[in-house]
Amino acid sequence: MNILAFESSCDETAAAVVRDGREILSNEIYSQADKFAIYGGVVPEIASRNHLAVISRLADLAIKNAGLTRSGIDAVAVTNAPGLIGALLVGLSFAKGAALALGVPLVPVHHLRGHIAANYLAFPELAPPFTAVVVSGGNTIIADVRGHTDIEIVGSTRDDAAGECFDKAARVLGLPYPGGRLLDELAQSGDEAAFRLPRPSVMGAAHDMSFSGLKTAVVNIVHNAEQKGETVNKADLAASFSAAVSDILVPRVIAAARESGYGVIVAAGGVAANSRVRRDLARACGEEGIRLCLPPLTLCGDNAAMIACQGYYELLAGNVAAMDLNAYATMELQRTPASFGAGVNAL
Ligand code: KG4
Repeated sequence: MNILAFESSCDETAAAVVRDGREILSNEIYSQADKFAIYGGVVPEIASRNHLAVISRLADLAIKNAGLTRSGIDAVAVTNAPGLIGALLVGLSFAKGAALALGVPLVPVHHLRGHIAANYLAFPELAPPFTAVVVSGGNTIIADVRGHTDIEIVGSTRDDAAGECFDKAARVLGLPYPGGRLLDELAQSGDEAAFRLPRPSVMGAAHDMSFSGLKTAVVNIVHNAEQKGETVNKADLAASFSAAVSDILVPRVIAAARESGYGVIVAAGGVAANSRVRRDLARACGEEGIRLCLPPLTLCGDNAAMIACQGYYELLAGNVAAMDLNAYATMELQRTPASFGAGVNAL
């Protein structure tokens, strides 16, 4: 079964074709990230307009590079939540048109379920149950993945997502948006013991996390130094910051995995590309005898192959949508995306 999928929840427009949920036939990504460097972040309306300008060509390219024609597509999957609402609506509307024109089912996919599914593409023999950690620009969660479509959040950030925190810290260090990867590179030459940064806990919620205090601490260090006319060693601060994020995240993921007893952790999302997080996860999993699945960097960020992959399992579970399917800026991971039809109440 060949699934054509679309992803447009933020500033990547993506289209892909995946066979039987596992084999990537094509994976086309148009990143707008460099267009937002001058603004220091994504401007939702500009992102929506850019999606609109390129999505049709990306769809054609994905089908062509898959070695198929339109008649070879068996279903259309699309991210309909969570994300920037205008951006999501572009992908969703296009996917509806494609499904209608091709006469195939329309399959809605939760963006974070898609991130987890990136691991099925990277590790062909991987199957639930396992513990997943999704660390991206908009979300940071630890999930109990009991089945391909039976997923429960067991820990999450109470404030900022880890990626958002990386991007804000990078901005105050003078790095262009999105600064997470550049901060990671800068940290390689820094001393992580140079700055004492907070590693907060959430009382009564062992697996929950908080990153906003850490972000504020970095901003204050830089601003205080500026006011005194001092210079901050940016590499040291980047290294200290990366270590603090990892120290908040990794022990909670390991504790959740220990509790589940599955013996497998999968990582996903853009921040899963972070070298410090990858190293700490690998070391901790080695010590605990837990298998760690870290997808290649190309599958960590937003892409449509992961949406096609999860779409395959949603389709097998019968999670098909009608043409009144809506897009949602937020949505619980537990909720099946198809259960959210706009229905007549929205008219
Ligand atoms: O998963 P993703 O591509 O998009 C969302 O769904 O949010 O994640 C993007 C986030 C950005 O905040 C970016 O700065 C961060 O992932 N990121 C990194 C690294 N590479 C990307 N953060 C830290 N270290 C990296 N190497």
